[in-house]
Amino acid sequence: MKQKYLAVLGRLSDLSLAELSAQFGNSVRKIAPSLAVFESETRPDINRFGGTIKFAELLSTSPVDYLLSLDFSGKFVIGVSDFSKGSNRKKSLNEAMKIKKILSRKNRSCRVLANSDAVLSSATSHHNQMGEKLGHIEFIKVGKEWYLLTGVQNITAYKNRDQARPARDAKVGMLPPKLAQILINLCGPLPKNSRVLDPFCGTGVLLQEALLDGYLVYGTDLSSRMIEYSEKNLNWLEKSNSLDKNRFLLSAGDATDFKWTEKIDAVACETYLGAPMSKPPVEIKLKEQKKECSRIILGFLKNLSEQISPKTPLALAIPAWLRPSGRYERLNIVDNLENMGYNVVKLNHLSQEDMLYFRDGQVVAREIIVLRKK
Ligand SMILES: C[S@@+](CC[C@H](N)C(=O)[O-])C[C@H]1O[C@@H](n2cnc3c(N)ncnc32)[C@H](O)[C@@H]1O
Repeated sequence: MKQKYLAVLGRLSDLSLAELSAQFGNSVRKIAPSLAVFESETRPDINRFGGTIKFAELLSTSPVDYLLSLDFSGKFVIGVSDFSKGSNRKKSLNEAMKIKKILSRKNRSCRVLANSDAVLSSATSHHNQMGEKLGHIEFIKVGKEWYLLTGVQNITAYKNRDQARPARDAKVGMLPPKLAQILINLCGPLPKNSRVLDPFCGTGVLLQEALLDGYLVYGTDLSSRMIEYSEKNLNWLEKSNSLDKNRFLLSAGDATDFKWTEKIDAVACETYLGAPMSKPPVEIKLKEQKKECSRIILGFLKNLSEQISPKTPLALAIPAWLRPSGRYERLNIVDNLENMGYNVVKLNHLSQEDMLYFRDGQVVAREIIVLRKK
């Protein structure tokens, strides 16, 4: 049976919305700047969605009735995040205190989590093990509806995956694991044991996330040093997470002419992004970078097009450069792609303009493109 869920969206809420839409289809609706609702038959796993901070499930009873229905006799730790219009820290705390009062009349003890805002930050929820430890329960209020927190972003696990990996290379750039997850999810729901290709795999961040999702992975890269790094990282990931063996394949090769030897079910990657930059490039440098990146990315897409089956999904992060005006200049390759045998996929009425991933002031941003082989 389908259940209604709430997602608290991450910093770049449009990309988060696109990620959810690719997985849960037309049921996804944005209901506030940082909130979306959707329906699903299975409970979404927060550890697999880079763009969502919290997932919660619609409650069919009141919070108190829910708490009393639990097979738990210890002390509750409860928190309330109130996303209703006009809410504030005081109102939110009041809601929590009302719950505490009713519980104490029923001789149940309860500690209310102090909040500094109308909603609990994901760090607070995570550190207090809300929704994870027995009796630690967070309710999310949106207007008249109450939701039960089912998962909060595990900041510690992301940090470990990013920083504890044995082979790192600051020059190749650091694809954030959250963006890697978004790219994989943008390919849509894939059957178990699908093979995901990253033809610019670098140190293997995306391959790591795809392995954790249970997919077979295939990584190629121009640099054999990068392939060695990926191998080290994937072996480490396999061991530290007790994953099944023999689920990845790596090979050095130029994406513009490589012949991939295995059947490919989806392609997710951060392509070559050009030279790393700490300040906006001068016009001539930008022109040169755009030319080089277009050559590699279009060359790769042309080469790939002949090797994948119709309907194969692709999600790519390609570069966009900060201009002195504060806007990002894009590669503008989308128009060429229809002629090369790809359809550009539009998710949840988002325009291509909305599909940007960047931190404040970052010079080389990533534009996200979702395609499907015709
Ligand atoms: C921005 S990095 C990708 C980083 C990667 N996402 C990671 O997790 O480390 C781009 C990668 O593309 C590779 N590359 C550059 N030109 C290439 C080409 N023509 N074919 C394949 N790989 C290429 C580089 O060696 C580099 O590892």
